[in-house]
Amino acid sequence: EPVSKEPTNDKVEELLSQMTLEEKVGQLNFIVGDALQTGPASVTNDGERLEMIKSGKVTGVFNAPGAEFSYKLQKLAVENSRLGIPLLFGADIIHGYKTIFPIPLAEAASWDLETIENGARVAAKEATSAGINFNFAPMVDVGRDARWGRNAEGAGEDPYLGSLIARARVRGFQGNDLAAPYTLAACVKHFAAYGAPEGGKEYNTVDMSERVLREMYLPPYRAAIDEGAATVMTSFNEIDGVPASGSKYLLDDILRKEWGFNGMVVSDYNSITEMINHGVVGNRADAAKMALESGNDMDMMGLIYSSEIEKLVKEGKLSEETLDKAVRRVLKLKYDLGLFENPYLYADPAVEKKEVRSKENYDAALDMAKRSIVLLKNEKDLLPINKNVNTIALIGPLAENKDELNGMWSFFGENQDPISILEGIKQKVGPGTKILTADGADFYSDSRSGFSKAVGIANKADVVILALGESAVMSGEAASRSSIELPGVQKELMQAIQKTGKPIVTLVSSGRPLAISWMDKNIPAILQTWSLGTLTGPAIAEVLFGDYNPSGKLPMTFPRNVGQVPIYYNHKNTGRPYTGDYSEPASDRIYSSRYRDVENSPLYPFGYGLSYAKFEYSDIQLDKASIKSGETLKVKVSVKNASKVDGEEVVQLYIRDLVGSVTRPVKELKGFKKLMIKAGETKEVSFDLTEDDLSFYRRDMTFGTEPGDFKVYVGTNSRDVKEADFMLM
Ligand code: GLC
Repeated sequence: EPVSKEPTNDKVEELLSQMTLEEKVGQLNFIVGDALQTGPASVTNDGERLEMIKSGKVTGVFNAPGAEFSYKLQKLAVENSRLGIPLLFGADIIHGYKTIFPIPLAEAASWDLETIENGARVAAKEATSAGINFNFAPMVDVGRDARWGRNAEGAGEDPYLGSLIARARVRGFQGNDLAAPYTLAACVKHFAAYGAPEGGKEYNTVDMSERVLREMYLPPYRAAIDEGAATVMTSFNEIDGVPASGSKYLLDDILRKEWGFNGMVVSDYNSITEMINHGVVGNRADAAKMALESGNDMDMMGLIYSSEIEKLVKEGKLSEETLDKAVRRVLKLKYDLGLFENPYLYADPAVEKKEVRSKENYDAALDMAKRSIVLLKNEKDLLPINKNVNTIALIGPLAENKDELNGMWSFFGENQDPISILEGIKQKVGPGTKILTADGADFYSDSRSGFSKAVGIANKADVVILALGESAVMSGEAASRSSIELPGVQKELMQAIQKTGKPIVTLVSSGRPLAISWMDKNIPAILQTWSLGTLTGPAIAEVLFGDYNPSGKLPMTFPRNVGQVPIYYNHKNTGRPYTGDYSEPASDRIYSSRYRDVENSPLYPFGYGLSYAKFEYSDIQLDKASIKSGETLKVKVSVKNASKVDGEEVVQLYIRDLVGSVTRPVKELKGFKKLMIKAGETKEVSFDLTEDDLSFYRRDMTFGTEPGDFKVYVGTNSRDVKEADFMLM
């Protein structure tokens, strides 16, 4: 296993040798750049902030967008501080800077790694042209609980899909040269297991076995590190009783010693100071000491390193070598970004003007958006809608809305930039098509005053499009919900419209799986449209009218109701598994693992998504019935597009280890291929399964395989699969 070598070089060592204690601490102090707060109220005002920058007491600022502003602050630091060490400029470019892409959970639904990587590259191009060189992304936290608001920021419930997406995003942000003007430092967050708060309640306690941590939650962080991510951000949560921001087990034993990470670790916003609230330290000095000694190099917004470290070193309570280790990592990062070479590399207003919101960037965002849409239901092929339909009624709080379309974590996006669903439809339909609109309901209140107008226009229409869902702030940070129903009275609005008997398509906009069981039963066509960003309208219109055949697949299981949560596909079998559907006699099912008042199955399973095409799978062919250590098993299927429309399909491969020294999940995603299959065409798809794919943390916590029987599954989602057996000798 690689052991991290401390990052350094002559320039870093030469600088370090000249630095005073105060200047060293200054390199660990990261503060907000302007009033844009993404956490508890900012603790610095402008004058104080500028003074700190001029005197080398600040290593970087975040949320200070714009080449001009960045240039001004950089000049202040470089020309006024004694050693002229350049600043980092950080920001949360989670899904685009000004050209806003779909939220990351939506992008994950595309299962399209190239398009996701390109989205990150476009975001980096725009952000670096606006002076940003340090991006607080990718967020790679695995999420299995739909109540948690930040599922929207990640790649869903699966560690394998999440790992590949993490790698794609790191590549997109960092390119292959951090010192290039259009690449920036990625920051893998939030380390670790922030996505597993008890009850899905934001910032809540995380507690799990080491085996679950390593198998289900750590892989995407590891993948991002292996892809070369320059930095890591600690998470707010405790894990097994120790807050991540002061956990030597996480930040040193695993991250550096086991994984060989030799980049820089930054805390989350004020999370070092918050260890006092956690109750593992009693004061600021102990918090600072615990964090720095655990390997948490940089203090974001806590001003706790700047107030405590110098004293601790002078009192001999903290070794200067520990401080130097952290300073080295920060200086090395600045060196790798090319900032010593040219501090103004990222602050050219002319580049910003050319890059931001370019046509190329908008085209990339449209492509990503349409690929992120998931077709959940399409009874009697109601979709796609004919472009020359006479009258459309477009109803719902998202019908004409622009403000909500960028979705959560899109601070730098402009609210009026997005193209609305109404505008997207208008651009698509024929000249003779009339479009009637009504909000019908809003996101929050229980007012039904808009219902009658909405029902009125529905009665006049040939087809009704309902644009329902969450507002942007209902997902993202500090947005856990105890209910995952459609907010407000939108479900009642839908029921009122459904009574008109008109054909209805519902668009569901959300940053999490919503419980839409009634909709699934009573509405003929449903599209999951997440938050799609600047090009929302055109992307949805392309799918509605068939110019793009939807190809998305759910990256998270959709529950029937919140009571089923947490619910995920790679669950264990238990001693009394229940996979029935209530058809067998009641007595057979009483003593089995289920709820009495709802089926065990989810509403829609992980990996689920329909197409306007119809894909038929052949049986699985294996090139051998068993494999020995070091051998590869070839898995093949043929997939036929038995329809008249071309379409992309995500062919998914899962395995099951039937007997292990510990219980094993009933399915584990180990491969997928997204491919275009033309109308009537049949394509052969093959996968190579190796021993690595069959490895897990065994009873003694060593990582490896155990001989025995396995199932392999291939299909269009995690439920509808073909299966075959093989053995590992
Ligand atoms: C927030 C988030 C983190 C973000 C940081 C800076 O609290 O937890 O994801 O990068 O603060 O905005």
